[in-house]
Amino acid sequence: MPTTSRASRCGARPPTRSSSCSRRAPASKPGRGGGQVSRSAPASPGRSERLGAWGPFRGPHVRRPPMELKGQVAIVTGAGRGIGRATALELARLGADIVIAEVDQHNADTTAKLVKDLGRRAAVVHTDVTKRAALATMAERTKAELGRIDILVNNAGIYRAAATLDVTEDHWDAIMDINAKAVFFASQAVLPTMIAQKRGSIVSLASMAGKIGSKTNLPYNASKAAVVSMTKSLALAHAADGIRVNCVCPGFVETDMWTMVARDQSKLLGLTPEEFTRQREKAVPLGRMERPEDVANVIAFLCTERAGYMTGQALSVDGGLVMHG
Ligand SMILES: NC(=O)c1ccc[n+]([C@@H]2O[C@H](COP(=O)([O-])OP(=O)(O)OC[C@H]3O[C@@H](n4cnc5c(N)ncnc54)[C@H](O)[C@@H]3O)[C@@H](O)[C@H]2O)c1
Repeated sequence: MPTTSRASRCGARPPTRSSSCSRRAPASKPGRGGGQVSRSAPASPGRSERLGAWGPFRGPHVRRPPMELKGQVAIVTGAGRGIGRATALELARLGADIVIAEVDQHNADTTAKLVKDLGRRAAVVHTDVTKRAALATMAERTKAELGRIDILVNNAGIYRAAATLDVTEDHWDAIMDINAKAVFFASQAVLPTMIAQKRGSIVSLASMAGKIGSKTNLPYNASKAAVVSMTKSLALAHAADGIRVNCVCPGFVETDMWTMVARDQSKLLGLTPEEFTRQREKAVPLGRMERPEDVANVIAFLCTERAGYMTGQALSVDGGLVMHG
């Protein structure tokens, strides 16, 4: 049986009360091997147990270094509600100023207020992501109003269900325009600025749907598979420019979109929306529906230097629903 090295056993894990690694780990530099464990040699075992990676240990998660994204500017499309709003707020908590690129002015204004309440700058740029000219304006106004573009989160998306024989051309085009085409042209709109800065991070919302098939969601699944594919091509094309491109693949996230999923799918399956949701929830290995914040946390991580060696990846954030690819 191969032996497990001490580094791989203790690696990036924060100390916990039961962790023997935390008690015995020597002091090491942050970012190298077990360096996330502590910044200096623990004064005593008791103290090492209380310290997380960046300060006092206050719960099951490592405290993140504060303001990792300070001075950076992030555009989040569809940030008026759901995963987009949660992402805008998480990036703002990490120090980024936020551009909310939305069609829903009222919701966009609310997100902007919440970002400002966190002490960050916020700008609402009315953007229909299906229009290439609007995406160009989004990039220009971001530079004009906030000075730079470090992060793009391609979040705006729509959902529609239909049996294969009922999918119309309008259905296909509407899904592809927002979920796939807009991801490419929004990225294209910000790339010249990121290339000039020699730095940038693009994170797009794919879905577990992009990794599996579906009897009743064919265009949606195809659009999300396209996001995974574009992520890989963009990552390859712009790695040398200092730009990282990744996507996340959530599962069943409780947002307004999920209300539509449950309504449409339950009709096709002869269930009530509540029955459909309960059925789906039971299928999740981690045993609960996903929250927008579950996705936002991973998106924010991908935007930080902690993910500085990751590009071209499609990360499942789905409670264990999809465990391949
Ligand atoms: N909710 C889920 O279960 C789930 C699962 C996997 C992936 N996703 C993906 O995550 C993303 C966000 O999903 P959500 O659940 O937060 O959706 P949501 O419907 O709650 O929010 C979507 C937001 O996008 C905005 N939007 C729609 N069309 C737009 C357009 N043309 N231009 C600009 N903004 C537009 C809407 O106004 C809204 O604020 C989507 O890409 C979705 O496909 C969601």
